[in-house]
Amino acid sequence: MLNPDELRLAYLNFFAKRRHVVLPSTSLVPENDPTTLFTGSGMQPLLPYLLGQPHPLGTRLANSQKCFRSQDIEDVGDNRHTTFFEMLGNWSLGDYSKQDQLGWFFEFLTSILNLDPRRLYATVYGGSAQFGIARDAETAQIWQALFRQKNITAQIVDDHSQDVWQGDSTGRIVYYDANWWSRAGAPKVMPAGEPGGPDSEVFYDFGLEGGDHAQSVWQDQACHPNCDCGRFLEIGNSVFMEYQKQADGSFIKLPKQNIDFGGGFERLLAASEDNPDVFATQLFLPIIKVLEQLSGVEYKPELVSADVGSQNPMPTRAMRIIADHVKATVMLAADGVYPGNKDREYFARRLVRRAIRYAHQLGIKDHFIAKLVPVIGQIYHVAYPDVLQKQDQIAQILEREEKKFALALERGLEQIAKVSKLDEEIAFDLYQTHGFPFELSREIAKEKGVELNKIVFEQIRSKQRAESRQKSAGVFKGGLAEAGEQATKYHTVTHLLHQALRQEFGESIRQMGSNITAERLRFDFAFDRTLTSAEKAKITQLINGWIGADLPVTGQNMSKEQALSQGALAFFNEKYPAEVSVFTIGTNPNKDWVSKELCGGSHVKRTGELKPVVIFKDKAVGVGVRRLYLREQS
Ligand code: ALA
Repeated sequence: MLNPDELRLAYLNFFAKRRHVVLPSTSLVPENDPTTLFTGSGMQPLLPYLLGQPHPLGTRLANSQKCFRSQDIEDVGDNRHTTFFEMLGNWSLGDYSKQDQLGWFFEFLTSILNLDPRRLYATVYGGSAQFGIARDAETAQIWQALFRQKNITAQIVDDHSQDVWQGDSTGRIVYYDANWWSRAGAPKVMPAGEPGGPDSEVFYDFGLEGGDHAQSVWQDQACHPNCDCGRFLEIGNSVFMEYQKQADGSFIKLPKQNIDFGGGFERLLAASEDNPDVFATQLFLPIIKVLEQLSGVEYKPELVSADVGSQNPMPTRAMRIIADHVKATVMLAADGVYPGNKDREYFARRLVRRAIRYAHQLGIKDHFIAKLVPVIGQIYHVAYPDVLQKQDQIAQILEREEKKFALALERGLEQIAKVSKLDEEIAFDLYQTHGFPFELSREIAKEKGVELNKIVFEQIRSKQRAESRQKSAGVFKGGLAEAGEQATKYHTVTHLLHQALRQEFGESIRQMGSNITAERLRFDFAFDRTLTSAEKAKITQLINGWIGADLPVTGQNMSKEQALSQGALAFFNEKYPAEVSVFTIGTNPNKDWVSKELCGGSHVKRTGELKPVVIFKDKAVGVGVRRLYLREQS
């Protein structure tokens, strides 16, 4: 059996032998990419090359890329989800064929990792009538031939076939309509310009005992590779990155027919050990061991779902969450991201606070994060020696953060224990007095069967903010409360502006940044020339028309998938939690709306509260980015 460093190296050598240039991992903080906060897949740093720019090192590349997926924070706790992971990747930039890709990956799995081919399943793209893209029969046939070489008669079956459950000779290759990959997700929700394509995933079967089907969402149906029961583990995904979304919603072929392969390193290691729990591999076990010592609780590699609020055996879930979150925090810190109040830093802070809370539940009384830093440095001392080199600084800063929050947590939990019902008012009070994050209150409430609403919490917060500003208005002439209200108004105008630009210049227009003061709003978007005065007049006219129509502004909470499928605008998935708030401007939030965006801020109730606006400045910032300034007409 290979240890983690051997496995990583074996993969890279395998592809180096097949004339791939091995690249180093890039940072978890993407360079030159304002659309996303973190590097979430191996292809991300290669985006320009997948879009057609020639890569200086050729057309065959491979690496192991550090990745962080903030949207998976709440999935951590089961046997396989982690926020930080490494993705083993290989790429063909218009070079080799599907046959090469699938053949090599199959060879790597069966000859290098020595996986039993009878334990492997493949899923294949089922096609889309809407986008006129056919099912990927070629890939299905390649898989069938590869299995035949191992004397396995693999049938090709449709979605959710009963046959799959029986495994062996039937239903080993399965069509799914969802087998499509892009950074944004399904074809429908991809923004214009984004590349993507059909994919083919490989799953390792841990056998019937490997999962707990009675707990899965498919409990009433047969198990299949995409079932969430834990029996099957996705260990690699070959994306045939051949398409690009257009502004009119259709797809064209990219200049080059690329292949983007990514396989979860932690999962490949688990499969190679025939061990369904990634936390029981050497990539996590050293951390778990320290947690066992500190808590006096023994780790049991149980199959538990990550679902917050379910009756999971708590210690297993808690240990996994702590191990994942502290590791992710340390890896982020090594790339320069320390806990703080905004953007990336806020995710780091959320990880630390969640880890502390679960440690508290496990009965760990002392500060523990600094003790784990060298353990994590050691796990990665071959692949990422900088972690060990920076360990003292990382430990010091994280310990400071831990001390600050541990105290707040203690007090907050005491207060929660005293109240009969945890609601948004109390969550706000905890936030206000102890810096207790809303997400933590919501999790604790959920465990007690109470749902807390983020929008209600935000409303209490805005109201409170306005009140405290009014209180200080006597000191600050002109009134800070008024300034706050004005910012809220400009925030709603920002959404209208975003939409007006999309109507004028096409759906590919995306907000890249914005900034609001009491006097004006500023808005950045990708655009490579000056706007004509006719265009500016048209945009102003659209916005002022919507203001004149006195449209209602509605806030709703929903799942990220639901929001995106309704056409809500978002940056990339990375940035958002599983549940999001969506603001819709229009007479009916379900249809005929003018604007729909994922957004956590506060807005006016109706556009009639706004005054007509004017674009008073327009300039370029950097290459291809335009900045507009708007204010109320005087
Ligand atoms: N980019 C593909 C993924 O992340 C391989 O699954």
